[in-house]
Amino acid sequence: MHPSAPGSATPQAASPPARAARDSDRPLTAGIGSGASEVSLIPVLEDNYVFVLHGAGSGGSDGAADQAVVVDPAVAEPVIAWLEQRQLEPIAVLHTHHHHDHIGGTPELLRRWPQLQVIAAAADHQRIPLQTQGVGDGDRLNLLGRAIEVWSVPGHTRAHVAYYLPPVDGPLDQQSQGELFCGDTLFAGGCGRLLEGSPEQLWQSLQRLAALPGATRVWCSHEYTEANLRWAHHLHPDDQAIHRRFQEVLTQRAAGRPTIPSSIGEEWLTNLFMRSRDAMEFARYRHSKDHWRG
Ligand SMILES: [Fe+2]
Repeated sequence: MHPSAPGSATPQAASPPARAARDSDRPLTAGIGSGASEVSLIPVLEDNYVFVLHGAGSGGSDGAADQAVVVDPAVAEPVIAWLEQRQLEPIAVLHTHHHHDHIGGTPELLRRWPQLQVIAAAADHQRIPLQTQGVGDGDRLNLLGRAIEVWSVPGHTRAHVAYYLPPVDGPLDQQSQGELFCGDTLFAGGCGRLLEGSPEQLWQSLQRLAALPGATRVWCSHEYTEANLRWAHHLHPDDQAIHRRFQEVLTQRAAGRPTIPSSIGEEWLTNLFMRSRDAMEFARYRHSKDHWRG
């Protein structure tokens, strides 16, 4: 349960976008997953998602089938209801950064489950005061039988972290996909605003995430995908990958379906911020998106 020494979270070498394998049959509904653990999303507030990592039925390892880990609880009430309905006991809360729409539900969750671990960036202990375990870049956790790597990804805020769960190999009923909880650093088709960092910092953070395997599922905290793709399509109307994804997203949203999770491979292909070749190009896109009123 305790993080090990830093330095073990070096990302793999980047794969070129051309290698991105598109999985067009990938379901985009809540509560999906396979194998020993799965991730569910709970839509809250106007456009936030709270994520829950939990055992996949009887396939949960370490006796963790009835336990859960909550990521960025913006609010408590719908999260408590969701967990109680499924008779899941949360053992930990992971925070990506200090903004209220990511930590606002934690005090109430702690009142309901006082034994909860609250894990967040040690560098933000003053702005996330309820944390029981401070973490930093390169730390490793183990929760519900899953290894969890802590990656520092500054830019949106100065102490923003992401949590990466490497894929689990093994017998079919024990396999799990790679998962990334990236808060407001990377969005589907977009990225967070530069509130406390430089373009260089956030571009570097996105480059680190781009080095993850293309199949890694991206669980970002907001449903901004349609606006992001509308903007990207406006800038690059002849880009076939962006056009294709924009049409898919319109269909998903018209049906009331979430566009999350995305995948690193999809972001390689269609995310102008991740595709940026340098921090200057990234900064131009960030400025464009910040001032776009499409
Ligand atoms: Fe934020």
